This record gives sequence, structure tokens and C-alpha cells, in this order.
Amino acid sequence: MTQELWTEVDCYITDLLVPADTVLDATLEASHADGLPPHNVSPNQGKLLMLLALINKAHTILEIGTLGGYSTIWLARALPADGRLITLESNPKYAEIARKNILRAGLAHLVEVRVGRAIDTLPKLATEGYNRFDLIFIDADKPSNPEYLAWALQLSGRGSLIIADNVVRNGSVIEANSDDPNVQGVRQFNKMLAMEPRVSATAIQTVGSKGYDGFAIAILTSDD
Ligand code: DHB
Ligand code: MG
Repeated sequence: MTQELWTEVDCYITDLLVPADTVLDATLEASHADGLPPHNVSPNQGKLLMLLALINKAHTILEIGTLGGYSTIWLARALPADGRLITLESNPKYAEIARKNILRAGLAHLVEVRVGRAIDTLPKLATEGYNRFDLIFIDADKPSNPEYLAWALQLSGRGSLIIADNVVRNGSVIEANSDDPNVQGVRQFNKMLAMEPRVSATAIQTVGSKGYDGFAIAILTSDD
């Protein structure tokens, strides 16, 4: 079983359950044309994010790592009319592209793209009084995942979901002595989740058009 088959099955699933969508197609085309790294979630993963936000009746969503706004659009589609999504992007060029994609998707009134290193913009959110996002999606630079998790815990409350992309990394997550800072960031993140008394968490391996990876999902089970 290989990448080719995983991609074909993802096409089968997407054709059936995630019908073509001009807004999302245009977002991917614009992201590709502008040379963004192809790190966006796949269509069926994007829809999973939307479903999780709907299941949790999310009114407020925080995304760490916007890229071209593809996952942002999926998540924002789960929001009610008075909902809010704040997405953090360190690269001003990516943020600009994301803003255009979000505008084209008709979601600009719900979504705020904040530019800057998340490690700087996250503390600012806290000082502005944000203390409860219903869903937090972590999908930025992997070495910073432990810090992002610490902030996610601070900016959430009982019932909030914390989801992280790319926690399996082709299986390299089990290499304890890896010298890859991405692997070490993800390993430390997973260990923090395991040791955190305020959450109940799991991780799921995935294969598909984006290769072999996985996501972690946690729910806050206590307020303090
Ligand atoms: C990488 C980052 C991602 O968020 C992703 O989904 C795939 C790969 C990366 O930095 O390699
Ligand atoms: Mg990712």
C-alpha cells in the first residue's frame, strides 16, 4: 500500500463527500500560484476540522499558523453569524494571501488574520482579555508546539478542543533521539498532552493525499 493508493482513496472520498467548491479551489490555486509551501490540510481533513467545530458548537476559534487560509476557511464555515476566528501568521506575505482568500470566501467579517510570530501575538491575545476559545487548531512551526500548547491551555476552558496537525510525521515521531527539531517539538508536545491533568487526549495516524501523518485532539476537562 503506497502513496498512490492513499491519494486515489482520498480522491474517492473527496469526490463523494467533499464536493468541489469554487472558493476552496480558488484558495488552493492562489496559494500554489504565489508559491506557498503545500502544507495546507487536504479537503477531507479540512472538512473534519469544520465538523469538529460544529460538533463543539464553537463560537470562537483560534488558529496558530494560517498559511494561505485554507483550513481557516473550513473552520470559519462552522461559525455562527456572531462567531469569531483569530488566525496567527508569522509571514506577512502568507497573511496577505490568506486575507484575499478569506475575503473571496465571504468570511472576512468573521475572521481576523494577525501578523507576527505567534510567540509574540499569543501573549497579546491574553492581555486583550481573550481567555476562552472553543477550538484551537495548532498547525504552525513544529519546534514551537510545546509553547503553543501552553498558550492553548491558557486561552481555553472546560469543553474547549485543542487540535494539532502533523503529530506523526511519517512515523518519525517514535524516534526518541531524532535530531530533527520538528520531531522533537512534536514529541515534547505529545508528552505535555499526556502529562496534562486538565485534558483528555488522543492521537490518530492518517494516510491520504498528504502522505502519512496524524493529528492530536484534546478536550479540556477542567477549568483550572
Ligand atoms: C509541514 C508542516 C505542516 O503543517 C504540514 O501539514 C506538513 C508539513 C512541514 O513543515 O514540513
Ligand atoms: Mg499541517
